[in-house]
Amino acid sequence: MAQRFQLLFMQCLVIVIMMEVIVGASLNIQPFSFPSNSAIGKRASVTCTPLEGEKLEFKWLRNGKELTSGTQNVNILSYPLLSNLIIDPLTSDDSGNYTCVVSSRGLSGSYTTKLDVLIPPSWIVAPSDTDASSGDSLLLHCKGAGKPEPTVTWSRTHGESFDFVLLPGSNQVTLLSNGSLLIESIEKEDEGMYKCNISNGIGNSLIKTIMVKVIGAL
Ligand SMILES: *[C@@H]1O[C@H](CO)[C@@H](O)[C@H](O)[C@H]1NC(C)=O
Ligand SMILES: *[C@@H]1O[C@H](CO)[C@@H](O)[C@H](O)[C@H]1NC(C)=O
Ligand SMILES: *[C@@H]1O[C@H](CO)[C@@H](O)[C@H](O)[C@H]1NC(C)=O
Repeated sequence: MAQRFQLLFMQCLVIVIMMEVIVGASLNIQPFSFPSNSAIGKRASVTCTPLEGEKLEFKWLRNGKELTSGTQNVNILSYPLLSNLIIDPLTSDDSGNYTCVVSSRGLSGSYTTKLDVLIPPSWIVAPSDTDASSGDSLLLHCKGAGKPEPTVTWSRTHGESFDFVLLPGSNQVTLLSNGSLLIESIEKEDEGMYKCNISNGIGNSLIKTIMVKVIGAL
């Protein structure tokens, strides 16, 4: 009787140990993410908080490569129960996948999150003052880079007025998908100031105003 009880006890013990190995095999980490408006030049930080374990050891990786605290713009502050990753100031090179790796007494866990560093618009092609002959087709260029992809808007003045009106306002004027403005069979009344605005919601918009002159018209 005592022997059977002992056997049963041993079996239970084995099951309990096995369950512990399976359930506790990885340390769960509270999900975290960088602020969605992490822009170049600003500071961004995340906190890695495992939901179990003690005497935790932390490591941070960017695209699978370990980060070292105190180098360049990276600072890592690790405590017994959590770890902070601080990037200050953000550069465009900091975009990527960030992984917190935690280990404790042979158990380990990891959590990965993505950082997309936002970048204000910069010029690729700026428009310049242009002369056109009446009846010509005219292509005005305006192109910028940034993250997210900037949008281009064009506006123009009419006659003596200094009020800018958003384009395209007529059938002869087309805003192409690459930001260039196409004016077909240009007329004297198309003459005026044209303003290009490149914007992506980050930092300042890029603005350039040019003069379009139409020659040889009555
Ligand atoms: C980040 O992870 C995503 C999804 O796993 C992957 O598609 C992407 O290529 C990774 N980026 C880098 C820079 O490793
Ligand atoms: C935009 O597209 C038009 C038509 O495809 C092309 O002629 C023009 O050069 C492009 N603009 C830029 C800035 O590349
Ligand atoms: C440029 O466009 C942005 C976004 O549409 C707008 O907020 C801003 O006022 C515009 N700037 C000028 C000078 O037109």
